[in-house]
Amino acid sequence: MARFAATQTNGPTQKPGWPKGTRAKVTVPDVVRMKAAGRRISMLTAYDASFARILDECGVDILLVGDSLGMVVQGLDSTLPVTMDEMVYHTRAVLRGTRYALVVGDMPFLSYQVSIQEAVANAGRLVKEGGAEAVKLEGGLTMARTIEAIATVDIPVMGHIGLTPQSVHRMGGFRVQGRRHGKGPGNRERLLDDARAVEAAGAFAIVLEGIPLDLAEEITRELTIPTIGIGAGASCDGQVLVIHDLLGLSERTPKFARRFADLRAETARAVRSFIDAVGAGSFPSDAESYHSIAPVAQTEKNQQHGKNGVNQSTVRA
Ligand code: KIV
Repeated sequence: MARFAATQTNGPTQKPGWPKGTRAKVTVPDVVRMKAAGRRISMLTAYDASFARILDECGVDILLVGDSLGMVVQGLDSTLPVTMDEMVYHTRAVLRGTRYALVVGDMPFLSYQVSIQEAVANAGRLVKEGGAEAVKLEGGLTMARTIEAIATVDIPVMGHIGLTPQSVHRMGGFRVQGRRHGKGPGNRERLLDDARAVEAAGAFAIVLEGIPLDLAEEITRELTIPTIGIGAGASCDGQVLVIHDLLGLSERTPKFARRFADLRAETARAVRSFIDAVGAGSFPSDAESYHSIAPVAQTEKNQQHGKNGVNQSTVRA
């Protein structure tokens, strides 16, 4: 299949304020068109500018500033305590490192569930203060009116159904959803209704998390908006991973995540080497140290001899 080129889609080719780039900026309409074009969408989480820059330069389509930062950055055991201020802060940092990818800011727990007005105001904060180009929120049928209200003020919304981490207590843990039939929350037929409701409410894409692959396939076939899967099999229109899982930085890797690297072991190796080098006095070396422009003794000698300049052979970077 030919690689989908965002430049063919009328999307802006530059991010305002950045020097001329080599690729087209990914926009919300680009992401929607990728499904029709049969082009699979890649999405990764990012929480700071340094990682955002690396992932963006590699060509990832979407950077999600996920509230998963509560677990992988802040060391919490759920995403529930993450605040709006924290999400704004991290979204702004990611935006600074991003040139091409679409930046999506995640709405944290209780930033959109209390009232529709608060939801619109908080989505607006992620856009106005964080620079997000879209927001993501968890929930299906019960969040349809909220999604509609946010989309109505032209803030693009990405839905998220299935294993929704903010529902951890209702689910009784981080458990695969949609395995049982029924219309109750988390059941198969209910998740189909949730997906339909999210699309009908005006979301431009939807994350399917922790559901059986055949259910994800059915939802992906039925919806016209792209589905982006995490633990939802290969039939989704795109895939998302938490960057710490992909890089092997997490202590435990969930079944659905593939470690594309083992940076935990590599980081430990590097840190042990540093500790050993410090202990042995071999770090920093002479080449890793700064030097005076001229040795003090030499300068004094030159002055005594009435010489003006410095001995160029002693000048070091
Ligand atoms: O918060 C997050 O990182 C997410 C993704 C796992 C989809 O919601």
